[in-house]
Amino acid sequence: MKLVGIVGSNAEVSYNRKLMEFIAKEYKDLFTLELLDITNLPMFNQDEDHSRENKDLLVMNRKILQADGVIIATPEHNHTITASLKSALEWLSFELHPLENKPVMVLGASYYDQGSSRAQLHLRQILDAPGVNAIVFPGHEFLLGKAKEAFDAEGNLVDDRTVGYLRMCLTKFVKFATVAQSLAERKPTPKEDLTASGKCDTTIEGVDGDADDWYEKAAEKVNAVSGDTYVKLDRGILTVDQLNYFLNSMPMELTYADSNNQFLYYNYHKEDYEMLAKRRPVQVGCSLAKVHPERVYGSVNWLVGLLRSGQIDVFRTHVPTHGPDKYVVHNYQAMYDKNGKYAGINEYILDFKPIVDWYLKQTGQSLVKNGVPVGHGYAAAPAPAADATSGASDSGHGAAPAPAAAPAADATSGATA
Ligand SMILES: Cc1cc2nc3c(=O)[nH]c(=O)nc-3n(C[C@H](O)[C@H](O)[C@H](O)COP(=O)(O)O)c2cc1C
Repeated sequence: MKLVGIVGSNAEVSYNRKLMEFIAKEYKDLFTLELLDITNLPMFNQDEDHSRENKDLLVMNRKILQADGVIIATPEHNHTITASLKSALEWLSFELHPLENKPVMVLGASYYDQGSSRAQLHLRQILDAPGVNAIVFPGHEFLLGKAKEAFDAEGNLVDDRTVGYLRMCLTKFVKFATVAQSLAERKPTPKEDLTASGKCDTTIEGVDGDADDWYEKAAEKVNAVSGDTYVKLDRGILTVDQLNYFLNSMPMELTYADSNNQFLYYNYHKEDYEMLAKRRPVQVGCSLAKVHPERVYGSVNWLVGLLRSGQIDVFRTHVPTHGPDKYVVHNYQAMYDKNGKYAGINEYILDFKPIVDWYLKQTGQSLVKNGVPVGHGYAAAPAPAADATSGASDSGHGAAPAPAAAPAADATSGATA
């Protein structure tokens, strides 16, 4: 189970952070716990909405959305939660609502005997507010009083009974979160403009994306550099030619569709009939609507919506139409800009079989299914929904960077591992 933990203190030295760090390392057998920091979030102010551009907030929103549950460790300040935690919760209940229907466990540590009991009661009330709407784990109060004496020099809780009680509470929370998640309704995905009629910051305007010569015209319009001109990347400097050599030598087919749903790039070095998912040079610049047959628009909308809204970071689907000698997987990976905003989809299509074969040979292992050794067993794994193949369509400019059918709703959680 994948949990995230919110430390309700912005102090550098915090007992609540210590408690969460202890939970993350001590109860690894129950879940993975990633800690989220509220320290750098701005103070909530309704007049200055940071919900769409504050990187820390956007990342926090996504991580909560993708988690199976949340643990909040609250300190107690003046008989309630800290101003910083309250402010964070206001951000998370204004334009963004990641805690909606999310199983949440409350616990806390304080300097004195009370162990943050009053703050925890307030926090439970806040989490029940309509804008937050979390599913709060009932009972099982974990109040760590006298926090200063509670930890040893390595950050471990010193009292074995406390460690045991905490384990019992967390074990029950894992069960609770599993049940609560299955009851929660999946968030609707936003309606996507697959025709790419809008624009994003990098859209090359005034050139018809769906035209066959978009690539030439758009390059001219923006004076796109090429050949031996150097480009400065995040950490490195390459010429455009070197960048092409590099991308073309990747053992996978790469496709880039931007946040405006425009198909901008693929690592073109093969003819379409040689590719795992057929792409043709004239498709570059087209909208996702143009490169998909109409019958799959619903699925494309569903997938792009999930990635854009941050509900998932990646979706994978096995495309079984390549026969038993290949295990072709289409991976749809959300991309984010330097401010944490959705920047489109990186679709990479990869035949995993050579990698698995190499791994088995290197390690001397073999595949076993239900206790019986298999040869090509994994290649014959059950196929996903009949049409879940992005390269399957080829009408007009067709052949597409997205799946053709929405797999079962809960297929996404497995896909985000
Ligand atoms: C302004 C202020 C008010 C506090 N009020 C309480 C309180 O009402 N109850 C309590 O148990 N501790 C109170 N404390 C002590 C906190 O429990 C202590 O600072 C604790 O370390 C805070 O958690 P942290 O270490 O995770 O930041 C207060 C501390 C401050 C600075």
